[in-house]
Amino acid sequence: MQNKITDTVEYIGVHDTETDLFEGQYRIPDGISYNSYLIFDEKITVMDTVDRGFTEEWLENLKNALCGKEPDYIVVHHMEPDHSASLKRFSEIYKNTVIVSSLAAFAMMKNFYGIDFSDRRVIAKEGETLDLGKHKLTFIAAPMVHWPEVIFSYDSYDKILFSADAFGKFGKFNSPDSWDAEASRYYFGIVGKYGAQVNKLLPRLSAFDIKAICSLHGPVLKENIGYYLSLYESWSAYKPDKSGTVIAYASVYGNTKKAAEIFAEHLKAMGEDNIRLFDLARCDMHEAVSAAFRYERLALASITYNASVFPAMKSFIDALEERGFKGRRVALIENGSWAPQAAKVMRELLGGCESTEIAGSARILSAPNEFSFNELKDLAKKLII
Ligand code: FEO
Repeated sequence: MQNKITDTVEYIGVHDTETDLFEGQYRIPDGISYNSYLIFDEKITVMDTVDRGFTEEWLENLKNALCGKEPDYIVVHHMEPDHSASLKRFSEIYKNTVIVSSLAAFAMMKNFYGIDFSDRRVIAKEGETLDLGKHKLTFIAAPMVHWPEVIFSYDSYDKILFSADAFGKFGKFNSPDSWDAEASRYYFGIVGKYGAQVNKLLPRLSAFDIKAICSLHGPVLKENIGYYLSLYESWSAYKPDKSGTVIAYASVYGNTKKAAEIFAEHLKAMGEDNIRLFDLARCDMHEAVSAAFRYERLALASITYNASVFPAMKSFIDALEERGFKGRRVALIENGSWAPQAAKVMRELLGGCESTEIAGSARILSAPNEFSFNELKDLAKKLII
């Protein structure tokens, strides 16, 4: 086997460097992998397909791995097209392979691809087991991680959790980079809204002795599984896993940026040594979103613009609110030359974020001066207490 995960499990996925924005909005400078695996046993089983742009490459990987054999089963853990789009083509080639998935997934197959495989399918139900020989796959219903039809499966022979999108990350399958930066950007961007469902699922995974996690994106996680589970525990509970403060600002002439930097200096002088500054008009918005969820505190600084906030700030707060941002202390810094409104508008926009407390606000009139220097110092004190 060329891409061995274990003696009996092989990687047959593909890497996408063609897509510029994943799901139309997430930057993927290192591309993204669509993972698929093959289990060799008495019953040969394919785990998921890949995005439609890579169908032929994946089929070639599969054919090479099969060495002339035919798969008995294909398990579809998730119906989002980045994983299911090659299913119909696969089914036309491997006409005897049984499709294994949740009942909800078969309904989606009909809608997406016009076929629900009623003549050759196994419905994977919570807790039921599919016997492949030495490998026994136990199915775990994982609704809304990240769609309603999602299932995980646990292979008791190799002790692998096949986790659909969960624990996935942007970048290469064999990426040597640390996991959590791109995994958190992926999680908070794509799955973050469904924290309650992820959080509910995690305790059920403790019933399994997991030695490896095979996600549909990114690397196989093999060591220190508890580390990944504990980060998902924090993220899904909307709890910070990093100490420190994120300062996100929207500035036009550099004065609001200057205020954000002065604010950061005050925080540093008060002992805050972990500060991330984001220029919302220029940074990767989803990196800023991920950081806001991961750090203890948040400060927002915006100019007043069209009697509201700068558009990038509005987009940022909307992105937080949509994903269930909650339980943080937030400091507000507004700038305005004649009718400052930004703090009021940011307060209103944050109104949908549960248990989010406004620590206070500071006002800049056009450019920071001695008065605003002290006001920013007072605000830093209020935020950090
Ligand atoms: Fe990678 Fe929800 O699809």
